[in-house]
Order: sequence, then C-alpha cells, then structure tokens
Amino acid sequence: MAREISINPLTAHGFFAEIVGADLADPSDDAQFATIKAAHLAHGVIVIRDQRLTPDQQIAFSRRFGPLAIHVLEDQLLAGHPEILLVSNKTEDGRYVGLPDAGRFWHTDQSYERRPALGSLLYALEVPSDGSGDTLFCDMSAAYAALPAATKDRLNGLRGMHIYDHGHKAFALGEAQKARLPGHDHPLVRTHPETGRKALYLGGKVLKHVIGLEADESAALLDELYAHCQSETFVYRHKWRLGDLVFWDNRCTMHFAQPYDDATYTRHMHRTTVQGDIPV
Ligand code: OGA
Ligand code: MN
Repeated sequence: MAREISINPLTAHGFFAEIVGADLADPSDDAQFATIKAAHLAHGVIVIRDQRLTPDQQIAFSRRFGPLAIHVLEDQLLAGHPEILLVSNKTEDGRYVGLPDAGRFWHTDQSYERRPALGSLLYALEVPSDGSGDTLFCDMSAAYAALPAATKDRLNGLRGMHIYDHGHKAFALGEAQKARLPGHDHPLVRTHPETGRKALYLGGKVLKHVIGLEADESAALLDELYAHCQSETFVYRHKWRLGDLVFWDNRCTMHFAQPYDDATYTRHMHRTTVQGDIPV
C-alpha cells in the first residue's frame, strides 16, 4: 500500500515545507521519491520528519538525487562513510569528531567549487534539549524576484569570486586542502536548471568580491543584497526536532546556522551532499 505522505508548507508563500509520513529508509520506493523530489523543487527546502536512518540508508536515499560530493574536510567525515560530513560538537579523546561550527554565516554549500552542491541533506541525531541551534533559510528566488528592476539590470552579467579560506573553531585548512580549493567565480544571479527560476547566488564570507567592480563598490552592492535578503519575507527559521532530515536546494536558497551553548548541549548531525551543475 502506498504511504500517506502529507506536505505542509510552513510559510505563506510556500517556501519551506514539512513532509510527514515518509520513510526514507526505503530508497527504492519510486512513488515516495517522486513526491519528495517534486516537493523539494516546489518549496526550496523541505524537512522530512521522524526519520530513523543508518548512514547507508541516508546515503542510498541521497544518491537518488545525483552523485554525492565528498567534502574537502576529510578529518570531519564519518569513518567508513566518507559521503557523510559530521556536523557535530561531540568530542572523542579530546578532539571534535566533526565540524562544530558549520555554516555560522549566510552561505550556500560548496559555492567555492566549480560545481557547487545541488542540495544538502542534514539529518538530526541529537539536538540541544533547550531548543537552541536553529538554522535560518533564505528563499533566494523570492528575494531575486522582489528586487527593483534597476537592481536586476545592474546584476545582469555580474559574477562573484567564491573562495573557501576561513578557519574553523578547532582547526584550519591544511596546505593540501587549500591547494585543492583555488576558488571559482559564479554569476550573482543563476537560473535554476530544473525549475527555470532565477535566484540570487551569494556566499557570505566565501563570496569575496564582485568581479570588475572596485572594492568599495563591490562591498556596497553585496551589503545591499544581503540586507535585502534578510528581510523577514524571505527568511524561515527552522527549529530542529530529533529525526528531522532537512533537504535544502543550494541553487536557490542560503542558510545560516545559529549559535548555541555548545559547552552544555550536544548537537550531532549527518550531512550528505548531492553534486550540482556549473551555475549559469
Ligand atoms: C551545513 C550547515 C547548518 C547547521 O551543514 O552545511 O551549514 O545549522 N549547517 O548546522
Ligand atoms: Mn552549509
């Protein structure tokens, strides 16, 4: 019998939807896959509630959306499952098992690569019991659509340079990792390869400057765009529940991890990343 899956948009304009009744442990369910894929494209970000997934099950489900990317942070991957990046403040033998400070600024995943991530699937295994550790998501298609026509004209043809060169709380990138990450330029406005919708494509501190503009002009333009995106109209705050698997479309959204009291609470998540196209 087919599963009863319900899709509940959590904002008035349909950005971010909750999916109840799915069971991703069975990746061979074609009808369920089609429903989830359509919801992902329609809503930009989906949270699939109440999952119980082994690493292999999460990987198998994620692979249905395309080949998986292996994150450059090889020391923060799950042992035996390099497709899984550990977003976690757990420690073992005095060392963080994963990345304790992932995404503490507005960004879209792997924008510093030639082929940035299509989507990321972040699965909550432990969440802070005080309800902190939210993630903000921004609807970059709606943000683009709402720009004044003059700004849209100005953005036409402009490209930004994306470079991953920031350090982390517990470690810095190694020389070999830096050598693998020269950075890439991408359009500031990209067209979604599946929906055809245009979206702003920005990268927070990974997006260094707008190519061809003077430094102050570039900074002023980016500040204006970030200020526009942060309007409540485009931003949804996700409060995590145990068993949530949040799947965001990196081609038309940004996200921002909110700080929490990581000396007191544990937040432990498994992330898989689907490889995307070259942005155009
Ligand atoms: C990520 C990320 C946000 C969070 O895993 O790519 O940015 O809230 N995580 O953990
Ligand atoms: Mn991220």
